[in-house]
Amino acid sequence: MTQPNPTHPTPRASTLVTLCRLLGYLRPYKWRFALVIGCLLLANLDSIVNSLYLQILIDKYITPLLGSTTPDYSALLTSVVTMAIIYAVGVLVSFLSELWLIPITMGIMRDIREHMFAHMQSLPLEYFDNNPFGDVMSRYTNDTDNLEMLIGRAFPNIISSLTMIAMALITMFRASWLLSLVSLSVIALMFVATRIILSRSGQYFRSHQQILGDVNAYIEEMISGQKVIKVFAHEAAAKREFAAKNAQLATANRQANTYTNILMPVMFGFSTLQTVVVALVGVLLALHSWGGVTLGLIAAFLQLNRNLSRPINNISQQFNSLIMGLASCSRIFALLDETSEPDEGTVTLVNVRTRDGHLIESSAPTHHWAWKKTDDQGQTDLIPLQGDVRFHHVNFSYEPGKQVLFDVTFFAEPGQKIAFVGHTGAGKTTITNLLNRFYDIDSGEILLDGLNIQDIKKADLRRSLGIVLQETNLFTGSVRDNIVFGAPEASAAQVDQAVTTAHAQDFIAHLPDGLRTPLAGNGQDLSAGQRQLLTIARAAVCDPPVMILDEATSSVDTRSEKYIQAGMDELMRGRTTLIIAHRLSTVRSARAIMVIDGGRIIESGSHDKLLAQKGLYYQLYSGSVELA
Ligand SMILES: Nc1ncnc2c1ncn2[C@@H]1O[C@H](COP(=O)(O)OP(=O)(O)OP(=O)(O)O)[C@@H](O)[C@H]1O
Ligand SMILES: [Mg+2]
Repeated sequence: MTQPNPTHPTPRASTLVTLCRLLGYLRPYKWRFALVIGCLLLANLDSIVNSLYLQILIDKYITPLLGSTTPDYSALLTSVVTMAIIYAVGVLVSFLSELWLIPITMGIMRDIREHMFAHMQSLPLEYFDNNPFGDVMSRYTNDTDNLEMLIGRAFPNIISSLTMIAMALITMFRASWLLSLVSLSVIALMFVATRIILSRSGQYFRSHQQILGDVNAYIEEMISGQKVIKVFAHEAAAKREFAAKNAQLATANRQANTYTNILMPVMFGFSTLQTVVVALVGVLLALHSWGGVTLGLIAAFLQLNRNLSRPINNISQQFNSLIMGLASCSRIFALLDETSEPDEGTVTLVNVRTRDGHLIESSAPTHHWAWKKTDDQGQTDLIPLQGDVRFHHVNFSYEPGKQVLFDVTFFAEPGQKIAFVGHTGAGKTTITNLLNRFYDIDSGEILLDGLNIQDIKKADLRRSLGIVLQETNLFTGSVRDNIVFGAPEASAAQVDQAVTTAHAQDFIAHLPDGLRTPLAGNGQDLSAGQRQLLTIARAAVCDPPVMILDEATSSVDTRSEKYIQAGMDELMRGRTTLIIAHRLSTVRSARAIMVIDGGRIIESGSHDKLLAQKGLYYQLYSGSVELA
């Protein structure tokens, strides 16, 4: 079960942690990033120099010309050209910083996506039980987009703006502390106004992202359930439900944006006010020749003021991206922080061959397998893989407090076929989910070839089990790709053998391109029966000693059913099989039948014995109660 994070850092601390973690992703690109920052700083410096040069231009080259009877324009021309060159350098470094930033952003995003996907593959099924598909999906789409904006736009902009503010302030105070104080008092007012606005928007942005995840989850559900929606004429209700969720989203969006959108005009107003006040005070000082203020200095100061207010404006503009990016970033990190499926198993599955009656591990494929167990002293033991399955007093609950299986005990010796029957929801699929460790048991013990399955490495445990799940799941790719899903190295002969075992050769031969026919969207172009035959072939190609078959409940036509039955019979031959049976013909051929009711094995034995007992099995068999 996904547990909530027990530690609750304050929002500010958690923002700092998020930022630091994000910086970790920058490590591989640190030199290139330093180059980008260097360019941004150079562009800032260039802008300041340009502003200061304005003072020289006016006081040294323009003002003397005004009083002169024989003006010499050549010096003015040189200084204008100098200014143009300074400006051009600024444009060039800004361009270079943008250019070099793109591959860094794309690289970080690629790394994060890769990390997310790799981690998602390691998560237990419980994570997917507890988190709606659309919500997980929106971390890959919406949240990564926001993060891209944060890394590619907001971050560099904010770094550049902050350094620009510092540079402008230093230069302004050196130029005229009097004018600087005037300018800063307007900025102080502006700061107070923005603090009030921004303190509101952060919380709204977080709830906005949350609601967006819900809306995405709803849309996904409606898309995948389109057929059912149409069959039950649920369109109007779906529209109504969506409208309600959409309205919620719009409200959250409006709340989040209202504050950040009024920020811009407010900032603009303050920066105009600042220009006017500085110009007025400057002229007053110049007229009285106070504080060494000249016309050139006023012009340079107004320009410096712009150097100061532009980055402040810039930061406020990037604030949306910053807040949204950080909210998305923490959602992405939340996915990355989900605990991976634990795997404490040490026993592995290895290829073996026999020499002088002893098993020896082989590095080359031998098609004979054994469990390799290493004890505390480092002694290894090879136990032949036979497929002996034993459940001892197993109790299990998906969620704490809601027990689903009670004291389940049974065994299947190598090659035996054990059938499970019972009403729907009795717990049949759950029993098989425990053998392959989709979920871990609460108490009891499950043994495979005498080894506790908790001691076996999960990947090796699952490799030893073939599974045909109740619901068919096919992937985009060719028919062959789907068959060799669990054994990509399978030869053509093995694939043919698997297809024959599954009795799928007839229908595959009729496909336009045989085994190479492409499939998409969970094999939607195939019939339900054909899809099942492919899943049987997929299990057959792995040739495992233990087979778990969950007969699909969806009804198929009798012809397909005959094929599926034949395919499953073939697949079970010579293997230990746990079969969840919905067909009586399957049950009758089983070595032992377990009748499950309410999570307990209430009857067990052979078909004849159970019939004689006249219990639930008898009712199921005689048809007074339907087999689930
Ligand atoms: N992922 C899950 N999370 C929580 N509860 C679950 C989950 N899967 C199944 N259950 C519950 O466990 C119980 C047993 O379900 P299970 O799927 O094992 O039934 P089943 O016997 O296979 O039924 P069917 O014949 O319909 O396939 C049911 O009450 C079900 O609601
Ligand atoms: Mg089931």
